Amino acid sequence: MVSRRTAIASGLSVAALAAIGYGFWPRMDSYRAALERQRRLISGDPTLRELVRLSTLAANGHNTQPWKYRLEEAQVSILPDPTRRTEVVDPDDHHLYVSLGCAAENLIIAAQAHGRPAEVMIADGPAPGIAVALGSGPSADDPLYQAIPLRQSTRSVYDGQPVSTTDLELLTSAATEDGVSVQLFTEAADREAILEFVVAGNSAQMDDPAFVKELRDWLRFSPDTAVATGDGLFSACSGNPVMPDWIGDRFFDAFFTKDAENTKYRDHIRSSAGVAVFTGDRADPAHWIRVGRSYERFALQATALGIRNAHINQPIEVPSLRSEFAGWLGTPDVRPDLIVRFGRAPALPMSLRRPVEAVLA
Ligand SMILES: Cc1cc2nc3c(=O)[nH]c(=O)nc-3n(C[C@H](O)[C@H](O)[C@H](O)COP(=O)(O)O)c2cc1C
Repeated sequence: MVSRRTAIASGLSVAALAAIGYGFWPRMDSYRAALERQRRLISGDPTLRELVRLSTLAANGHNTQPWKYRLEEAQVSILPDPTRRTEVVDPDDHHLYVSLGCAAENLIIAAQAHGRPAEVMIADGPAPGIAVALGSGPSADDPLYQAIPLRQSTRSVYDGQPVSTTDLELLTSAATEDGVSVQLFTEAADREAILEFVVAGNSAQMDDPAFVKELRDWLRFSPDTAVATGDGLFSACSGNPVMPDWIGDRFFDAFFTKDAENTKYRDHIRSSAGVAVFTGDRADPAHWIRVGRSYERFALQATALGIRNAHINQPIEVPSLRSEFAGWLGTPDVRPDLIVRFGRAPALPMSLRRPVEAVLA
């Protein structure tokens, strides 16, 4: 049996090794170089491949990038990639289709900014997907387009300050989408109530070995692994130390505990200005795609305003809590789709994507 002192000592030595840190890890050079290639706007006339590159910078569950793109002359189709499902946390592909909606929104915004107005068709039924037909028109200066390479999920403590009413209205307006409603909660009592749902959801997930294993499989502790895979959740992007993978395994076992995660979520939510909840009118892939489009615009508008956001989806990922949370929202018969906190904080390192060639169908 491991004594408490030994556990603390091994935790400390792991922490000391981890102090190698983001800034000092020599191989961060290749990570930074990859980011510079991926996270830039398009110069000149956009090719479909360049539009795909910006599309893939969208938010997506566990950074699995569960998409394939089919390119035709003036059309880009975004299709699910079933090899990148996360079947434990997302057994019905809800997050997968929301992620496709986020990717579609980036593509549409980028194309329109470059004079290619987009018409979107969502194919529902047995093989849901999205077709984006590109026309031609004037190019337009759009702050949401400028925000595409700068948007990130910022999983850190925020500054605890409120967001102005004007900015809240801009966020709500950017997220407007047929078939989707967005509720903003800025009162402390509401944030505390949501926090209790998040803690209950996180506790259930941390008690589930299958959930923990699936999450672990998508974590990337070393920049080498993050660059080699181009996917997953790289430590630095969650404000955690960077380290070789073999130390990362020990770090994960020592520090990724239910209590530590619940404490972190309390700090995160209490320091946020508010929480946004996105709810589609119906629970089907077409509406999940719409929710993704709405959320991505919210996140880009937030970025343009210097406002950060991060997901706290535990209450909608644990089925038994989801209906209780829907009841708390006052809509017991509708499935809430996303829960996102927002506020101001410094940026964390950006996450990587796979190269465009890897996502072409
Ligand atoms: C449908 C969906 C669900 C997500 N769920 C979570 C979540 O529960 N916790 C979290 O920290 N991030 C969550 N995220 C954020 C992703 O992990 C993030 O978008 C991805 O790692 C890429 O990083 P980036 O947003 O910084 O580009 C979710 C994103 C989407 C689109």
